[in-house]
Amino acid sequence: MTDNRFHLGWFGSFVPTSWNTAFEGSDSGDWLNGDFYVEFAKTLERACFDFLLLEDSSMVSDTYGGSSEATLKTGGWAPKGDPMALAPLLTRATSHLGIALTASTSFYPPYMLARSISSLDHLSSGRIGWNVVTSSEDRAAQNFGMDALPPHDERYARADEYVELVEKLWDSWDADAVVMDRATSTYVDHTKVHTIDFAGKYYSSRGPLNTLPSPQGRPVITQAGGSPAGRDFAAKHADMIMALPKGVAAMKEYRSDIRRRMELHGRDPDSAKVMYVVSPILGETHEDALARKERKAAAVRANPAGVLVGWSASMEIDFSTFDLDKPMPDDVHTNGHQSTLENFRNWADGRTLREACVAYRTESMELVGTPDAVAAQMGDAMAEVGGDGFLIWSQPHNRRYIGEIADGLVPALQSRGLMRTEYGSDHLRDNLLEF
Ligand SMILES: Cc1cc2nc3c(=O)[nH]c(=O)nc-3n(C[C@H](O)[C@H](O)[C@H](O)COP(=O)(O)O)c2cc1C
Repeated sequence: MTDNRFHLGWFGSFVPTSWNTAFEGSDSGDWLNGDFYVEFAKTLERACFDFLLLEDSSMVSDTYGGSSEATLKTGGWAPKGDPMALAPLLTRATSHLGIALTASTSFYPPYMLARSISSLDHLSSGRIGWNVVTSSEDRAAQNFGMDALPPHDERYARADEYVELVEKLWDSWDADAVVMDRATSTYVDHTKVHTIDFAGKYYSSRGPLNTLPSPQGRPVITQAGGSPAGRDFAAKHADMIMALPKGVAAMKEYRSDIRRRMELHGRDPDSAKVMYVVSPILGETHEDALARKERKAAAVRANPAGVLVGWSASMEIDFSTFDLDKPMPDDVHTNGHQSTLENFRNWADGRTLREACVAYRTESMELVGTPDAVAAQMGDAMAEVGGDGFLIWSQPHNRRYIGEIADGLVPALQSRGLMRTEYGSDHLRDNLLEF
């Protein structure tokens, strides 16, 4: 029997829940105590999600309008809690869900990162992923003593060396190094723990790591490269690659390109999963879902700044300087999320900035309808693309939306045989590669 199943992950952030919407919940001011996120993780586990991925950034942006006012007023990009600190709470409350957390190669010292991620893999019994980003904002770099980030492609060259170093540290202990031999009073056989003596162009580290090899050995690596340099980096290192190509044809092209690049790096293309970001809009009926979509569009049309503040933050382009009722000027560049800007420019295709904000959604394909109709569309798309699954992005970020996906869409996918109904393994990588 053919296995048509694909994987589901959730693309989340340790940020305020949607506090100013209906259905905000009675505890929307308490998001930083972690309780909402613990409940969120348990819900995803009940729904058999492979993982919850927590994105991150380290700054209070003041790009939009040259002030932090808009960022802080909307609370969309800051405040943000540290996913590294949240992760053990989530893994302690669950037993199979993977937790992938974002840490930037531009800011974390590699030894520290290798040790933290390895420790979290132990604490979770093998369910940790590291979402590798190079960061895209000079404002964040300035919080770490730099004036600006290195140029885009150089960040990937650095990240390449960084990941190599981290993997060497993870490999610096032989699997059988711990002997715990009472007779000789030996805890670790020192001949099985090795320095790495890494001396690269950007980083160096002596090693070995001062903690035991973790349950997954090398914790899962996730990445979201969109540009050629980013795709190549992802193809070389990642176990799960998330992307935002627009439409089924572009999704297929992206996956083929990643698989081709993996082969060029000597990797089996089936050893990584490509997953696409979507934010399904569900309703009791098709008309109900369409009406919800239209309400969202009307809200953006009335206040495009809500969208533009986030883009200004990640691309460090002050979108407040452009006329909302004219197309975006051509001579706009970013050292940040290059492919995001390119995607948006192609999408805008002569539309005014206001209409482009309404039309452009941060997702690979629009999914609007009843849970069963959306499940069917997702199945058709994966059959055409070839795999490997979707990442759900909360829109809005509240229990109601999470519940609609977990209790509406997931059962619809499961009854069509498109999604797992139980976990095959206790480890994140094994679950990702199960089918
Ligand atoms: C689903 C998704 C999640 C991402 N998460 C983060 C993140 O947490 N932090 C970050 O700095 N960048 C994040 N990015 C940006 C990517 O790391 C990358 O910069 C972006 O996809 C553009 O690709 P490029 O760097 O190859 O131009 C994310 C991108 C996507 C599509």
